[in-house]
Amino acid sequence: MRAVAVFPGTREVRLIERPEPPPVKGSQVLLKVLEVGICGTDREIGAFEYGTPPPGSDHLVIGHEALAEVTETGPDVTLVRKGDLVVPTVRRPCPHARCHPCRAERQDFCITGDFRERGIKEAHGFLQEWVVEDEEHLVVVPRKLSDVAVLTEPLTVAAKAAEQAQAVQQRLPWERQRVRALALGAGPVGLLGAMSMVVNHFDTFVYSLESATSERADLVRSLGATYVSGKDVPLGELGQKRGTFDIIYEAVGVSKVAFAALEALGPNGLFIFTGIPAHGRPNPIDTDTLMRNIVLRNQLLLGTVNASRSAYALALRELEQGMFLFPQSLRSLITHRTPIQEAPALITRHSGIKQVVQLTSGRRD
Ligand code: BGC
Repeated sequence: MRAVAVFPGTREVRLIERPEPPPVKGSQVLLKVLEVGICGTDREIGAFEYGTPPPGSDHLVIGHEALAEVTETGPDVTLVRKGDLVVPTVRRPCPHARCHPCRAERQDFCITGDFRERGIKEAHGFLQEWVVEDEEHLVVVPRKLSDVAVLTEPLTVAAKAAEQAQAVQQRLPWERQRVRALALGAGPVGLLGAMSMVVNHFDTFVYSLESATSERADLVRSLGATYVSGKDVPLGELGQKRGTFDIIYEAVGVSKVAFAALEALGPNGLFIFTGIPAHGRPNPIDTDTLMRNIVLRNQLLLGTVNASRSAYALALRELEQGMFLFPQSLRSLITHRTPIQEAPALITRHSGIKQVVQLTSGRRD
């Protein structure tokens, strides 16, 4: 079967042939992979800046944003059935007894760092025609979401952020005004974050560099959010010009931009970091102002990495709401669908919003 892998030793990204998986046992499930989304993490792996092959392997099969169909189930499988559409989760728990989060199936909070991530860290990913996975790592997707369900994994970034925001903002128990929320960045994570905030009834803004008359700005507005262009309002003046925000959801992955946006965070506000910046040169920041504001305005800075099963379930609910409210806009987030043979090239260059690889293997006998 075909797969796409990175070879860090020789710095190659290429299509490979792999043996088909053996028959499933116990609670294992055989999945026919239908679609795999490509994100910034895949491009970093493709640039050999991130990602680790499984121990003893010279390559890593990439792909962690997957949609698949159940084609065979082991004798102990009870949670999924043949023909189900599923999204597999990415992170697998570490083996240590002392890691209470992993033991509680919250490997997104792993304290040892010895977790594995399919397609990213020490475990092959889903950009291959067939995959065996344990049923406990699968989330069943309603058929009616099939054309956008590949967005579930990137949406879990926002879903987990929403879960966390709800938990920490319980520190503000009085009745509040309608929450003003800002998504910083209009890439897939920012746009899906904005959609999530809109369906959660926040007064939602998206700030990005594209002009206010760009297609991206139109897309933001079609999702029910307000677009603010960096061409019209410099980031350092955003709070002054457009008012401060109760929640800022960072989706640019550039620390300099993220910290500049702190100026627009209001009193008792929550700033959520989701990006993973590449290591660059140190940036000077005014730590006195930062600390004064954080203390005097009771602000919270929160980092979040996706995601537990609960975030996948929440993401699917939000996707369903999104498809009810603005189906065309949501569909238009997927700007490219390409066959697997074009995937290696896709990983080294970026265009559009979300690029998806479609796998079209025949049914396995
Ligand atoms: C993935 C997460 C992963 C993170 C760090 C993201 O792109 O969506 O599942 O934890 O990268 O490796």
